[in-house]
Amino acid sequence: MIETERLILRSFTETDANDLYEYLKEPAVNCFADMKVNTIEEAKAAVRKRAKETEYLFAIVLKENGKVIGEIDAYPDLPSPEQDSAAPDTFSPCWMLNKKYQGKGYAFEAARAFYDYLFNEKGARRIYAYTEDYNLSSRKLCEKLGMRREGVFKEFISFVKDAEGNPVYENTVQYAILKKEWRGGGNF
Ligand SMILES: CC(C)(COP(=O)(O)OP(=O)(O)OC[C@H]1O[C@@H](n2cnc3c(N)ncnc32)[C@H](O)[C@@H]1OP(=O)(O)O)[C@@H](O)C(=O)NCCC(=O)NCCS
Repeated sequence: MIETERLILRSFTETDANDLYEYLKEPAVNCFADMKVNTIEEAKAAVRKRAKETEYLFAIVLKENGKVIGEIDAYPDLPSPEQDSAAPDTFSPCWMLNKKYQGKGYAFEAARAFYDYLFNEKGARRIYAYTEDYNLSSRKLCEKLGMRREGVFKEFISFVKDAEGNPVYENTVQYAILKKEWRGGGNF
């Protein structure tokens, strides 16, 4: 469990299904299209799956009333022939908040504590984020966390198809921060 001024980051429990349904019935961005839940039953199944994750996936919970307002996760990259043993110290986060709770600094508060956790307790050396070029809130969040913009991949990935069935490609911005660049939770 991770605690901040206004939030608790904790593992999911079965009772979180209604709250998860609220923010996953209409995913805000295409990259989360496959996470969409269509019914409360699907939300219950999604929560049961999440409840098994205790290290790298957290529900973002409002301290004042216990409501789950979103989630944040990042898993160590799998070793690959190119990256060898360095990969498990590299993480890429995913974050989403219920629309009603955006723009109040909760994402920054949660992400800052999560980065502290990854850098200080989980051996992270490098954290990088991919975000759509049009996703200004996510880009701003990366920048507020002190991440460097490393580049833009043009027409990098497609999550959805257009009316004719053709893939819709998105431009992806990559941000990153190294442990030695991280200023820590208290210095912002
Ligand atoms: C990305 C997301 C988690 C950010 O949450 P948030 O509540 O907006 O974040 P915060 O309130 O902590 O704001 C962080 C900064 O971004 C800014 N910001 C928020 N929305 C913005 C927008 N639409 N345009 C420009 N800046 C924005 C805030 O003003 C704040 O900066 P400031 O403190 O200098 O003012 C949230 O918008 C979300 O869940 N989006 C849908 C899911 C998603 O896109 N996930 C990422 C996929 S790559």
